[in-house]
Amino acid sequence: MLERMSSSNFLEYRGCLFPAGHYEIDSLEYARNEFQVRKDDIFSITYPKSGTTWMQEILSLIRSDGDPNVSRTVPVWERIPWVEVTSLRKKAEAQPSTRFISSHLPVHLFPKSLFTSEAKVIYTVRDPRDILVSLHFFSRTAGFLDELDKIEDLLPKFLRGEVLFGSWFDHVRGWLGVRNQVNLLLLTYEELFQDLRGSVLRICNFLGKELNEAAVDSVVENATFEKMKDNTMCNYSTVSKKHFDVQKSPFLRKGISGDWKNHFTPAMSESFDAAYKEAMKDVNFKFIWDQC
Ligand code: A3P
Repeated sequence: MLERMSSSNFLEYRGCLFPAGHYEIDSLEYARNEFQVRKDDIFSITYPKSGTTWMQEILSLIRSDGDPNVSRTVPVWERIPWVEVTSLRKKAEAQPSTRFISSHLPVHLFPKSLFTSEAKVIYTVRDPRDILVSLHFFSRTAGFLDELDKIEDLLPKFLRGEVLFGSWFDHVRGWLGVRNQVNLLLLTYEELFQDLRGSVLRICNFLGKELNEAAVDSVVENATFEKMKDNTMCNYSTVSKKHFDVQKSPFLRKGISGDWKNHFTPAMSESFDAAYKEAMKDVNFKFIWDQC
């Protein structure tokens, strides 16, 4: 993947790799230095393949009080647009308050004005082993990842951060490091997977959004893997094949936690565990997968 990373498909900005075309240095600079965070903004922040689209769908359904109409008629990237994506940043900006905004940015590239605001951040983290597997299959889907690495070849690159949006370790350590400085709710893909209803209630509580029982039921029902897989407004089947070919591998692929166990060899697990232990040794936080 490294060779591809240096190709014209990618651009590097402050040590982080982005898919060229959708991202430009100007937009990244703008997001970091000029974007004005409002005190009632709500950000959904993720490292790629962590359940970004899932959280976008959940937030979108919460915003509409469980009414799935908008989720079924408007593409997810327009509902909760990205602050750093060139074509969507104006949409992110122009939303009336309360604005819902997505981002994959690591903390050091995030709009600086967040740190003097009361805006809310939902940071969704996923077991990096499952991210790796998901990324491997996603490289079939994504036109800009035109060469499929074997999972065992992708692992060392992932551990070195030679992938899109840089190192998972840097991303997670960075956001965990500011969790007491910003208004941040930390959630994991695994929690969403184990208890979607409970997670929706936690999110509502964090957002100060009161939903009645029927609305919560509707959020949960419409944010299931099966419902989302069939929803063309979030399964990326409407995007041109050049960018996302969901025939090669669906964007909503398997939707489980622990798929890494079907793909990791003992040698891969050993090398992952050693790198993870070293990189996370100073992190004063235990994720659900740390206990397994
Ligand atoms: P898999 O490839 O493991 O199936 P992102 O949106 O950050 O790119 O993440 C994509 C991953 O989230 C994919 O993982 C996708 O299937 C999973 N996902 C999306 N919606 C989901 C849902 N409702 N339930 C479970 N997993 C979901």
